[in-house]
Amino acid sequence: MPDSYELLGGQLHMFVTQPPMLPLTFNQYLLATEEPLLVHTGSNADASRLCAQLRVALGDKELRYVFVSHFESDECGGIVKVLDAFPSAFAVCSEVTARQLSGFGLTECSLVKAPGETLDLGDGGLSFVAYPSEMHLWEGLLAFEETRSILFSSDLIMRLGSLDQPVVKSDWVTEVEAISTEKIPDPVALEKMRRVLSPLAVRFVATGHGPALDVERR
Ligand SMILES: [Fe+2]
Ligand SMILES: [Fe+2]
Repeated sequence: MPDSYELLGGQLHMFVTQPPMLPLTFNQYLLATEEPLLVHTGSNADASRLCAQLRVALGDKELRYVFVSHFESDECGGIVKVLDAFPSAFAVCSEVTARQLSGFGLTECSLVKAPGETLDLGDGGLSFVAYPSEMHLWEGLLAFEETRSILFSSDLIMRLGSLDQPVVKSDWVTEVEAISTEKIPDPVALEKMRRVLSPLAVRFVATGHGPALDVERR
């Protein structure tokens, strides 16, 4: 299985790790905007390899942002190595996640975003959606890139199993309806999540695990 793919005409780099004996891939993405954005760092153990891949993909550009949807090792375990390797970059995350990072000594590297806020990437931009993520349903964030209609869905919309192909087809209504109480155990929060996601003009889902999704609208 290759460990990187160029998607959307080279605008989106997908880096994939599959640990032996585990039927799950861990995906990170580099969005090649004027202000380049990395989505997640993978684990600390895999971060040096990711940094090398990023250097190649970035060319002479500087990494500006590292989006961290929530505080967990596969999403940000490599954050220290990535920020050391790319000192101009900031971690972009929720207030709760920034508090966790500061507890690990990462105090001045976070750009805190709230749901509804945006981030300008030059020839693109993110808007942020509240994401009640795993531990204690702490508030994390999902990011929607509005120019390219890419949702970075983290653990919320994902696939288990190994990766046969980097992108599979799906449709948005099915994906939103399939978000279950396994992902968001609180029924009120789950319904709110579906209500916020449904109207988003998503065309492509960059999942945290498994293949990315090329989504149709119906
Ligand atoms: Fe997670
Ligand atoms: Fe994850």
